[in-house]
Amino acid sequence: MKSGCQKQGRGDSTPHKLEGLSKILHQNLGIGSVKYRDWPYFHFDLTAGCGFNIVDDKSYAGSPLIFLQEATSWHRHNVCATFIDNNPEACRMLMRTLVEYSDYQGPMGLVNYDCFTGGDLFDFVCTKHGQRCCMVEIPLPDNSVAWIKCDDNRNVLKNSMLAMKPKNSNYFGSMTIDPNGAKMPLKEMRDFLREWARIDLILVVSATQIKRNRGAFPRTVSLRLADFEAYFGKRYNWIHAPDDGDHWQRVIIVSRNFMPQSMPNGFLPWSEARDLLEWLDKSERERHDKQSRLFNLS
Ligand SMILES: C[S@@+](CC[C@H](N)C(=O)[O-])C[C@H]1O[C@@H](n2cnc3c(N)ncnc32)[C@H](O)[C@@H]1O
Repeated sequence: MKSGCQKQGRGDSTPHKLEGLSKILHQNLGIGSVKYRDWPYFHFDLTAGCGFNIVDDKSYAGSPLIFLQEATSWHRHNVCATFIDNNPEACRMLMRTLVEYSDYQGPMGLVNYDCFTGGDLFDFVCTKHGQRCCMVEIPLPDNSVAWIKCDDNRNVLKNSMLAMKPKNSNYFGSMTIDPNGAKMPLKEMRDFLREWARIDLILVVSATQIKRNRGAFPRTVSLRLADFEAYFGKRYNWIHAPDDGDHWQRVIIVSRNFMPQSMPNGFLPWSEARDLLEWLDKSERERHDKQSRLFNLS
């Protein structure tokens, strides 16, 4: 395996997660892409990773590439994508992955090498002016831009995202986070989402990890999955159901302020997923006992 990606994408549930992400991002990017084509689409990936996932020696596109592929498939323009990861090695690899993708896609345009004033292209990331955090601009067609930010997502949420907000409400967007057991900057995410009401939240969570990482949650917030709904205050919520008994632990939660005509296959409205949510909130032992009944396994 290539270095820098050891912490991402080796689980059995990864292909199911990536498929779910791709479906939901496809729907998000499609919204308004005809009628409101000129409204900017903002995307914030708080745990971008290195751009690919390897499972059983097979490589799958990582969340940043999935986003760009879906944006391209809708011929979206005015996209502003921010890919954040606090691991410099993952950022360097993501940079390389995006450069290769840009070259391969042709219409995506080439990376703006003017950003780099010498030295190794990939070493330059994260060392500009001696600072750990820096930005790399990757021009995309039709007035789009992608950034890689090598920093803690909590810092980025606190320090720079609010400054970017458009003055009017003519924008669409999404925020994805897939912490894989790391702490989530929940309070900063909530503050951000309140300010940017048109940004939809796409959370990849593991019920087990939530229980194991109690410190990730402010004291006032219960750990139960069912409480995500109230915490983020979005009007409509869905859960991407596990595909079988083995992959139950990683679920995608989508929180929005609008109700689409329909949802992609596999996404259940929160109100119809009470049993699943309650079950995921149970202890591992309780879940295990009931697993066969829930999924009709032997
Ligand atoms: C599961 S991997 C991401 C996989 C990626 N989203 C995908 O689907 O291809 C989680 C990533 O989050 C990053 N990460 C963990 N904690 C972070 C933090 N506080 N700030 C920024 N990135 C973080 C890790 O370095 C790791 O690359």
